[in-house]
Amino acid sequence: MHPAALVLALALSAPALALDNGLMLTPPMGWLAWERYRCDIDCANDPKNCISENLFIDMADRLYEDGWKELGYSFINIDDCWSSKVRDKQGRLQADPKRFPGGILKLSRYLHERGLKLGIYGDMGTLTCGGYPGTPLDKVKIDAQTFADWEVDMFKYDGCYSNATEQEKGYPAMSVALNATGRPIAYSCSWPAYQGGLPPKVNYTELGQICNLWRNYGDIEDSWDSVLNIINWFFENQDVLTPAAGPGKWNDPDMLVIGDFGLSYEQSRTQMALWAIMAAPLFMSNDLRTISSSARAILQNKMIISINQDQLGIQGRRIVKEKIGIDVYLRPLSHNCSALVFFSRRSDMPYRYSTSLSKLNFTAGVYKVMDVYSNKEDTLKDSSTFVVSINPTGVVMWYVSAPAKPSLRHFFKAGKLRGYDDYDHANALPASFL
Ligand SMILES: *[C@@H]1O[C@H](CO)[C@@H](O)[C@H](O)[C@H]1NC(C)=O
Ligand SMILES: *[C@@H]1O[C@H](CO)[C@@H](O)[C@H](O)[C@H]1NC(C)=O
Ligand SMILES: *[C@@H]1O[C@H](CO)[C@@H](O)[C@H](O)[C@H]1NC(C)=O
Repeated sequence: MHPAALVLALALSAPALALDNGLMLTPPMGWLAWERYRCDIDCANDPKNCISENLFIDMADRLYEDGWKELGYSFINIDDCWSSKVRDKQGRLQADPKRFPGGILKLSRYLHERGLKLGIYGDMGTLTCGGYPGTPLDKVKIDAQTFADWEVDMFKYDGCYSNATEQEKGYPAMSVALNATGRPIAYSCSWPAYQGGLPPKVNYTELGQICNLWRNYGDIEDSWDSVLNIINWFFENQDVLTPAAGPGKWNDPDMLVIGDFGLSYEQSRTQMALWAIMAAPLFMSNDLRTISSSARAILQNKMIISINQDQLGIQGRRIVKEKIGIDVYLRPLSHNCSALVFFSRRSDMPYRYSTSLSKLNFTAGVYKVMDVYSNKEDTLKDSSTFVVSINPTGVVMWYVSAPAKPSLRHFFKAGKLRGYDDYDHANALPASFL
């Protein structure tokens, strides 16, 4: 089969295996309040950062006006602590009236007018993790309908204060209830994170059938320790996790903390690179009003976003783990392309790592490689040894294009065809660039 035909066949067949709501055929992108803003409800003393409609409107304005939306960052997601501590007279959840005086429907309309989407949060226990009203089994239908009435586009269902038996019923029941509203609402399940993230307690086949994405592991924090711990867990368990992911169903290693306080520049580039390799949802949790230009450049890197959003939706893997503290990761992309990440766990100095494409299982001749952070490109023969210089806790990330066409090979050999414009773009770039 022609590679393009294969891509199409995969793209058409894969969603049938996932939750059948037609949503999130590529990983969702946007902004989520939790990591940066937590349960800050002190609007009297901290008006700029408290969980209130103003915070979500501010972030929506930034997504809309600062070029984020065009790159795919379209969700604004509310997390815990948005609601009143009591349900209304009809038994429905209601937003805190002081902090959300316009209500959730007004907020979702504000977003929709700008081409953005709204996500909201609930919990399958008696209470949310922050102590607000939960959505236990007997409230699943009414709350799903309330979210649909509010024109919400995504729902995250947390698991505090619930047990395994309740979760086995509650997570599928919510999937059915969301579907029954008739409104397409993407569904994020925290279920596996409450059951250790691994079989036999977690059934990834079932998750793929009822949820669009799921949190497998603990909450991310604003620190390199936390990011590295998540990276380690996801790649140590890649044999279980990678087959679970695909169009409409994603593993979620949690938010991007790029632009906050805990990561260095190199570490920020590492988080972005490896979240793209993992086909992870890209939800930033930061302050888009004051974000630095260097953090913004990482988050707005078009090449990395296109790798994250590749239509095949294949989650990448670690393919090399050197004892010296160098890892290599690979994600297969459409059009016979791939993403490669070289990551250094070292703490001494930039490490000059020597390898060849054939050692990394690229054996089809001459490849074009592009460094996605520097935009520098080169052509490489599979058997040639090359050296990448990887900074401590940093990465080098490459976009590797399909082998040059046989008829062009002699040009590469003669060193004539090194400029980007000379290359066959249509064959080399991800679909989102065509
Ligand atoms: C509900 O599920 C059916 C069958 O799986 C699907 O065809 C339909 O599109 C879904 N509707 C929504 C709103 O998710
Ligand atoms: C889980 O909670 C339910 C109440 O909703 C209770 O009946 C059941 O015994 C609990 N199961 C376990 C294993 O704790
Ligand atoms: C996992 O879920 C699938 C789909 O619901 C089901 O067919 C399968 O039997 C489950 N596997 C186990 C081990 O329970």
